Amino acid sequence: MPVTVILGCQWGDEGKGKVVDLLGQRADVVARYQGGANAGHTIVWGNRSFVLHLIPSGIFTADTTCVIGNGVVIDPAALSREIAAVERLGYHVKGRLHISLGAHLILPYHKALEKAREAARAQRAIGTTGRGIGPAYVDKAARTGIRVVDLLCADTLSAKVRANVKEKNALLRHVHSSTELDAEAILSEVIKVRAAFAPLATDTTALLLRALAADRHILAEGAQGALLDVDFGTYPYVTSSHPTVGGACTGLGIPPSAISEVIGIAKAYCTRVGNGPFPTELSGMIGDHLRSHGQEYGATTGRPRRCGWLDLVALRYANAINGVTELAVTKLDVLSGLDLVRVCTGYRIGAERTDQFPTDAQALRDAAPIYTTLAGWNEDIRGIRTYGALPQTARDLVAFIARGTGKPVGMISTGPRRSETIRVRINP
Ligand code: IMP
Repeated sequence: MPVTVILGCQWGDEGKGKVVDLLGQRADVVARYQGGANAGHTIVWGNRSFVLHLIPSGIFTADTTCVIGNGVVIDPAALSREIAAVERLGYHVKGRLHISLGAHLILPYHKALEKAREAARAQRAIGTTGRGIGPAYVDKAARTGIRVVDLLCADTLSAKVRANVKEKNALLRHVHSSTELDAEAILSEVIKVRAAFAPLATDTTALLLRALAADRHILAEGAQGALLDVDFGTYPYVTSSHPTVGGACTGLGIPPSAISEVIGIAKAYCTRVGNGPFPTELSGMIGDHLRSHGQEYGATTGRPRRCGWLDLVALRYANAINGVTELAVTKLDVLSGLDLVRVCTGYRIGAERTDQFPTDAQALRDAAPIYTTLAGWNEDIRGIRTYGALPQTARDLVAFIARGTGKPVGMISTGPRRSETIRVRINP
């Protein structure tokens, strides 16, 4: 069974980092396939915790090979800081982390343009993480992007940075009335940090294909979530990459036929950070309970996350487009202390009832959730490791999720630590 894809089935922050960290212990290779430093994967072990933004979560498992694929956009300064921080914790990075020559770079002009564009959108702002992700993918599609391979040749790098800064400055000045950037300053910064990771740059597709040929187990790690996919998410309130399963193929260079397992991660409730429609969003005490008990603050930006009930319409859609073979339900412990738990099983849009997820942002904004109400539980279930030890009402919720999605639940997370996990097989 060569490739397992682990991806988020909601709007990101489902707890993928923990699941990748856990399953990465039995993988030979962990490969990140899209997004950039907009992601924040929190790994907790013992009394220590660390937030990874670019390096795959497998880096904390000795002997695991880690790959940053061509589908990722890399902020060179952020990556070199992250490498240094992981090394300070005593983990080896050199020889274990491999960075695709084809991955695109995020440079200061991407962040400047993003800031200017978000300001110009005013009320219609996407609420991005401000990490330059969108503009970097724009350059990739426009074929003006600068890739890791360009770092290896000083002349090419200088020529490309200068040409891009010239173009972006014209936009910044004439379209956005914003401050221009200095190409030489950007260039010297990039040259300063490239020493940290240019030696790790390689043909990662060849590396992964060799691993496949040797029947090594590859874990493909997605960032964000299916509902933020630029094609399948709630456009335009999306990120600019493909967190969905196809992104694993195009972001790494592995064939779809090599994928044997797709593990979909979903919280036992929903969160969203940034703007865009969110049918089950809660304001008031229950939303506050989820935010405070679940520590729902962005791992990258610190922004409070919007919280709401679990949405099975959205989850079934995410499962369907990704071919999810098994679900991992995370943060079940956060629901402890609620008298009742609601799960959205359909939408009413105008006079119509539907169980289809509309990706048109306006239609979704008009969707009123139809709920099934289940009994909650008062017991603190944090850290419980066996299914039988959960209160009956918590088990009923898990069984409801399996039945309502038609997918088996293979893992339940009851806390942020590796050990706070239940491995089960709850069939629909
Ligand atoms: P961008 O990816 O920074 O362009 O942001 C686009 C949208 O995706 C915004 O709503 C962000 O809040 C959201 N987003 C980006 N990365 C993450 C993430 O890792 N978790 C949750 N939301 C994210």
